[in-house]
Amino acid sequence: MKRTTSPDVLLRIDRRGPLLRAQLERELRAAIRTGRLRHGMPLPSSRALAADLGVSRGLVVEAYEQLLAEGYIVARRGSATTVAARRIAPERAAVSETKVARPRFDFRPGLPDPSHFPRRAWLASLRRVLTSAPNSAFGYPDFRGTATVRTSLAEYLNRARGTAADASRIVLSTGFTQGFRLVCQALRARGARAVAFEDPSQVEQRAAIKAAGMKPIPVPVDRAGLIVEGLEKSRADAVLVTPAHQYPTGAALSPERRAALLAWAARRSAFVVEDDYDAEYRYDREPVGALQGVAPERVVYVGSASKTLAPTLRLGWLVPPADLSPAIAQAKRLEDMGSPGLEQLAFADFIAGGELDRHLRRMRAHYRAKRDVLVAALAARLPHVQVSGIAAGLHLMLELPAGSDEQAIVAAAAEHSVGVFSASRYCAKAHLSPALILGYGAIAAESIPAAVERLAAAIRG
Ligand SMILES: Cc1ncc(COP(=O)(O)O)c(C=O)c1O
Repeated sequence: MKRTTSPDVLLRIDRRGPLLRAQLERELRAAIRTGRLRHGMPLPSSRALAADLGVSRGLVVEAYEQLLAEGYIVARRGSATTVAARRIAPERAAVSETKVARPRFDFRPGLPDPSHFPRRAWLASLRRVLTSAPNSAFGYPDFRGTATVRTSLAEYLNRARGTAADASRIVLSTGFTQGFRLVCQALRARGARAVAFEDPSQVEQRAAIKAAGMKPIPVPVDRAGLIVEGLEKSRADAVLVTPAHQYPTGAALSPERRAALLAWAARRSAFVVEDDYDAEYRYDREPVGALQGVAPERVVYVGSASKTLAPTLRLGWLVPPADLSPAIAQAKRLEDMGSPGLEQLAFADFIAGGELDRHLRRMRAHYRAKRDVLVAALAARLPHVQVSGIAAGLHLMLELPAGSDEQAIVAAAAEHSVGVFSASRYCAKAHLSPALILGYGAIAAESIPAAVERLAAAIRG
């Protein structure tokens, strides 16, 4: 069996079989009919194709003449023979992205402002890396992450987030989502059976605990964050928390609860998985350092560039205790052999050049201004509703009057082309009073007053 590649199609003929010319014609017709050879594509020259297939050039010329006569291909003097238009099978649907219809005013939480991605600085980092990286950088990266990014991250996290990160333990991931899955696998591998989570919280996290073969245990939260007493009664081997800005209530874990949580972990030899979500965005409160800095052997720190830069980067990191580090690194190796290396090098360059600090300083002011516009618009249009969780992050919670029907309001808002989420969608067992979650990361500041006016109409309606 002999094969050749034409511009991007594979032709097969059996040189020991009969009727070589007929075989070649049949292959070419099939390639054109199915669209593998598309309209306007040049065919290989008869000489090249003959050489590739190991047949005489005359045979290829005859096959081409036959297809020319049948109208499959066209030949123009002095240029390559190309595929004709009319014989091509109907166009197959182009690959399209899953498109979700987005409302005109989108308060979907969890998104940073895409119009403020630091394109120029990121491009400069990528360009520097591509220009200067040795050839070895194009092979498989270290599955734990490249040394430069782990070093830059340890320096940044220890300085800006108060962690006690040891670069040699850091594992790069494709974001919090993967990071948490790796933690669950490592926990399960050392015999963990149950992992507690904040109720309410992001629904996918419970699913990740279950998918790793462990029991997810909901623990309620209040205005001071996770109610640690609730954890005491559980038999959890670990707990997932968002101490800097509870998702979605926006509470910060109080100092007493932080201490109680770490005491629980030490007593039970359990682990605290710290989702350092939204930590870089705080507006009117003192920065709170990461829990990991206080108890690096009991806390697995999980970070992500999804809010600080953009979710599309799929860039995250873990700082595990020594006990869990090898198992997490091994889980990462088995999962995908490591995160994309060039992006890691670019990220390291971006951090080392001070661009991350500069970007965050700018974005803090940007989001604070947006938050102020949103809070002012809510106060003007809905003076009777309470807002909470506004001291940090990219979303707030709008507490609706008692007896409000959250779902009806979400539906009415959608009718007004305003996208909001109900608080109850994040609940496992918890019964929150009716509330909406409003993300203000991605919505344009200029749109906020009009959006709130429509939302107010939906709530009043
Ligand atoms: C609570 C919470 N943590 C972390 C993340 C970030 O996930 P990832 O890094 O996989 O994008 C999100 C994303 O929405 C989130 O809601």
